[in-house]
Order: sequence, then C-alpha cells, then structure tokens
Amino acid sequence: MAKKLFLKTLGCAMNVRDSEHMIAELNRIERYDLTQDESEADLIIINTCSVREKPVNKLFSEIGQFVKHKKKSAKIGVCGCTASHLGEEILKRAPEVSFVLGARNISKITQAVNSEKFLGINIDHDESEYAFGEFRQNLYKAYINISIGCDKKCAFCIVPHTRGDEISIPHDIILNEAMKATKNGAKEIFLLGQNVNNYGKRLSGGRKGELNFSQLLSQISKIDEVERIRFTSPHPLHMDDEFLEVFASNPKICKSMHMPLQSGSTNILKAMKRGYTKEWFLKRAEKLRQMSPNVAISTDIIVGFPGESEKDFEDTMSVMEEVRFEQIFSFKYSARPLTAAAQMTNVVDDETASLRLQRLQNRHMSMLDEMSSKYLDKTFEVYFEELRDNGMAAGRTSQNFTVCVAGSEELLGKMKNVKITRPQRLVLYGQIV
Ligand code: 5AD
Ligand code: SF4
Repeated sequence: MAKKLFLKTLGCAMNVRDSEHMIAELNRIERYDLTQDESEADLIIINTCSVREKPVNKLFSEIGQFVKHKKKSAKIGVCGCTASHLGEEILKRAPEVSFVLGARNISKITQAVNSEKFLGINIDHDESEYAFGEFRQNLYKAYINISIGCDKKCAFCIVPHTRGDEISIPHDIILNEAMKATKNGAKEIFLLGQNVNNYGKRLSGGRKGELNFSQLLSQISKIDEVERIRFTSPHPLHMDDEFLEVFASNPKICKSMHMPLQSGSTNILKAMKRGYTKEWFLKRAEKLRQMSPNVAISTDIIVGFPGESEKDFEDTMSVMEEVRFEQIFSFKYSARPLTAAAQMTNVVDDETASLRLQRLQNRHMSMLDEMSSKYLDKTFEVYFEELRDNGMAAGRTSQNFTVCVAGSEELLGKMKNVKITRPQRLVLYGQIV
C-alpha cells in the first residue's frame, strides 16, 4: 500500500516547485499519496519561507500541533528557507523533527527520510544539474527552475543566505523539462528563479551559459506545443533593451511583467543596494509600456525600510501614480537575521510603517477600481486552470488577470475567448464568446 504524505508549502513559487521535486524524489523509491489529513500521514513535511519575520515560535507551535495529532510512527521534516537559516536549532528545539533540509538541498530528501536524524543545509550545494524525478501538481501550468540562488546583496533580503549564490541550470535541461511538460499536456511554461533575467551568467563549476535570458525565452518559444511563457522574478536592473524587445515581439510570452520596485526613493534604493534610481525605474517602465502597450506590470513594495522619511514614502507613492501598476504586493519592512539592514539603527516605528502601508494599499485599491472598469465588454483569451466553488472555472489572461466564468472540468487546460461582464478589482467575471 502507498504511504501517505502531508506536505505544507509556504512562500513563493520556488517553494512550490521544490515541494513537487520532493514528491517526485520520494516516489522514485516508494509511492506516497498526498493527504490533507496530518493524522493519517506517514510523513509530514513543512516547506518553510523566511522572507518576512513570522515569529519562529509559530513554526515550533505548528510542529507541536503535528506531534500531537500525528500517527506514532510518522516522521516530521522541516524543509525550505527557514530550515536553511535555523538549521540545527530546529533539531535541538524540536526533537520530534527527524530531518531538516534547507532550500537547495532537497535532492537529498530520500536520504533524509531514511535516516534516523538528518541535517542538510549547505547553501553551496549544487543541484543545478541534478535530474529530479517528474511530478507536477498543476498539469496545465508547468513550473521550471532556470536558476537557483541569488548573487544580489539587497540589504533587506535573507534569500542569498538561504538559497546561496546564483547558478543557472543548463539550457538543454530546461528545454527538456519544457518538452516533457508539454507532452503531458501543459500549454504554459512558468520559468522560475530569484533573478531570472540574469540567467546564464554562471553555471556549475564556474562555466558561463551559452544563452542569456532573452535567448532562452526565444528557444523555449520554438517548442510548438508551448503556447504561453511566464517567468518570475526578473530584476529591473537587468531589463535591457534586448530583453524588452524579445518580451514585446514574441507572441508566446505573456504580457505580464513583474518589476519589483521596493521603494520609489532614490535614497532608500541606495540604502537597499538595489542598483537603480527612481528615474531609471520610471524610464524602464515607460519604455516597457511603449513597446508592449497591453502589458500589465506588477511590483513588490516595502514600506518602512530603515531611514524612510515622509518624503521618501511620497516618492514611492508618486512612482505608483506614474506607473499605474496593475498589481502590487506590498509589505511592511521586517528585519531579517544575517542581512545588512538588520544592523541599521534608524528604524521607522511600527505605527508609521503601518499607516504608510494602509495609505499605499488604499490608494492602489482605488486605482484598481478605475483600471478594472475599463475591462467591461473587453474580450480576453483565457487559459483555464482551476475550478472554484459555486460552479465557476478560473483562468488567466496573458496579462495574468484572473477571469472566472460559469463552467466545470471540461474547461480545464483550454484557451477560450471571454467577454468581461462584471469587472472587479481582483477578478474579472465574464462569459465565453
Ligand atoms: N521585509 C519586508 N519585505 C521583504 N521582502 C523581502 N525581504 C523583505 C523584508 N525583510 C519582500 C520584497 C521581495 C518580496 C518577495 O518580499 O518586496 O521582492
Ligand atoms: Fe521563496 Fe524567498 Fe520565501 Fe525562500 S525566503 S521561500 S526564496 S520567498
């Protein structure tokens, strides 16, 4: 009989793919079926994220809950970014945990599961050419890693300490994965990396890649069965003209661009070590909109970074007004261990940061109302990926807008034209035409 696996995945798409890789690796040796019920699981894995501070205690209280409800023989493992940076502390504080496997060490999952105790947190471990087994939770949209780790030293970010230096995956492995995924029915390829448009700068053993990111996109688009290509996350600094040109002219590349701004103030950007100024960002965004008039731009913004004055925050608001981002992921700054910003003493008090976040989010909501009303009666090509409650099927437009229509399984994996009848801020409702 197959064993049962309860797997909780937190954090970003990279973690989602890491979880898929772990399932694939486990299944090579013996079959595991996924379960939503931790009390019947033979193996419990938490794939953690550490990008913002959640009290570490929360992880330990969660482990405590699993210990309470699990089968006696079930093993518990903690994986991912928090595993990377807390490492051995987890094994010490929670003796019921039998393995800790950092991001970038997940190819060791079967070894970890079969050991009495296992700690694998080496951020120099190179999995870039490792042939993972095949498993995908979403058959329609195939996540493919193109690089691991990150060479940037943004002052707020813990990721270089949890995922190590940036190494690109050889392009033949990526193209192979894309072909396999499309053979299994995926029409959309979603490329993943911390810094995707820096692709190819360094491969395993210090080699340089043969293709840069723009060339990689072009190669993937030549696979006939690939209908859509997405990627995350690009860095604004590497959005050169060649990249914007390929993005604009290749019809298979979805017209959705993530441009993580972080702050609109040149002073704060400097303190964050982002490598660009407010003006530079605005010019890139303007050029992107000129070259790809249908593009939707999403961004990440941090408010309350150390030293952020009212004037700095106004700069962020003004970039938001000017670029009119279609989607914003906004966060209150959270000091992370091992980062440069954690040493800064000019902290913004929590109340001020919360008020700024509120102001930014409120203004963006009203901008979204203005923007979404324009989509009434417009027709979009939608790729359907999931079922929602109350008889709705949901899909995405090229711009990554979520569209819902009345429908069921037969729509999944299909592209349909949908006319929008009821645009809302975050979801557009419509009818297939
Ligand atoms: N505090 C708040 N937000 C952060 N992010 C990364 N590190 C921090 C931090 N210390 C945000 C950034 C990044 C996104 C993934 O998470 O905006 O782009
Ligand atoms: Fe992903 Fe970063 Fe969170 Fe790690 S810390 S899971 S890389 S978002």
